Amino acid sequence: MSDKATLEINGNKYDFPLVTGTENEVAIDIKTLRGVTGGVTTIDPGYKNTGSCESAITFLDGEKGILRYRGYSIEELAEKADFLEVAYLLIFGELPNTEELEKFHSDIKKHAVVDDDIKKILDAFPKSAHPMGVLASLTSALTAFNPTSVNVDSEEEMYNAIVRILGKFPILVAWTMRKKQGMPLDYGSSSLGYVENILQMMFKRPDEEYKQNPILVNALDKLLILHADHEQNCSTSTVRITGSSHAGLFVSLSAGISALWGPLHGGANQAVLEMLEDIKEDGGDTKKYMAKAKDKSDPFRLMGFGHRVYKNFDPRAKIIKVAAEEVLGDLGVEDPILDIAKGLSEEALKDPYFVDRKLYPNVDFYSGIIYRAMGIPVEMFTVMFALGRLPGWIAQWKEMRMRKEPIGRPRQLYVGETYRPFKDISER
Ligand code: CMC
Repeated sequence: MSDKATLEINGNKYDFPLVTGTENEVAIDIKTLRGVTGGVTTIDPGYKNTGSCESAITFLDGEKGILRYRGYSIEELAEKADFLEVAYLLIFGELPNTEELEKFHSDIKKHAVVDDDIKKILDAFPKSAHPMGVLASLTSALTAFNPTSVNVDSEEEMYNAIVRILGKFPILVAWTMRKKQGMPLDYGSSSLGYVENILQMMFKRPDEEYKQNPILVNALDKLLILHADHEQNCSTSTVRITGSSHAGLFVSLSAGISALWGPLHGGANQAVLEMLEDIKEDGGDTKKYMAKAKDKSDPFRLMGFGHRVYKNFDPRAKIIKVAAEEVLGDLGVEDPILDIAKGLSEEALKDPYFVDRKLYPNVDFYSGIIYRAMGIPVEMFTVMFALGRLPGWIAQWKEMRMRKEPIGRPRQLYVGETYRPFKDISER
């Protein structure tokens, strides 16, 4: 194969090197494009063809339905690892041994406390506030209470910032939910596992001891692993681009949370459940909603279907579908919503509209069903996604800073007015 790509513009030829990744993906390196062509730029709205960086964290093959973190398949990780091991793997590049994992967990626990004044900020929000907005604000506010900027050239400082946010973030998540429910704010227990502690912090009632349910612990662990990273998606790109201005870790994460909130991204899990509820309320006629999704004059989209990268199947959806059935079976929950979800997915998988456009159920089609069975309110679903994505965002932010990437600053093609003289207000 050639090692260069040639571009011809107005009879002039320009060569650009081809670069190959470790999975044999090929990219055209156009770093010199504007310089050699005298200012010609590329245009690619939504970055459908544009690689923003080189990354060694997550590999994804959308045609084959492959997802790997640091080389390990998502199927194996979901089955054999726990969330904290996966977080360590994503952030530091290797699976931890027993000692490393124990130290990591113990360092996280040391930082599992937030300044009490954070409660005042939380109190200022109305109960009606969406938890994603609250979480983004509180994460950003953490900067005010931990103002020292991280020297990214110091491994120790980087490590401390990482364990700090991994310790504090679940508290913010739990408090966001408890505040909405009018429950007293509390800390968890340092004797518990990372995921068990999250469940206790979210669900413990003040008047009784919280009993761990291993089915729920296992289900949440799996969900968090499945959401832990997904290469350069909208929120991760936001975290990287925010951090590329050398903004701190916490504010970069806060920007990522805001990007995740939208219904085309992480907000889809809430949108799926609301859609399934609407279909149930409307008599459960899935065919009617299939028709709406296909009608181009109707803005309705089948939420939880389609993916920018997966054009065959979403491997996370496969794992989660089985998990949803297990959890509902184990808990003895009979949820009519699951039947509607199954019906929709069966119809879509054989409908030419969906088949031709390669639209398959994505991770969020089933995650909400599990969250609901766990007793998590619908508005918290995207917050749970953020909790899972946290290690991925951290890993990507760290990688971007360690590689000393330049500030993210896309170009544009200007299509507005050309020069015109100023018009006095009396003439407008
Ligand atoms: N329902 C109906 N039609 C759809 C859907 C859908 N869910 N998704 C895509 N299409 C159609 C779209 O109308 C277009 O049709 P046409 O070619 O006739 O104009 C075609 O499929 C391609 O769609 P697109 O919007 O150009 O594809 P995209 O890669 O830009 O968007 C997506 C990907 C995920 C934003 C989109 O599929 C979608 O809006 N899905 C529903 C929201 C959702 O479930 N999002 C969660 C994604 S997974 C979690 C995460 O990682 O964030």
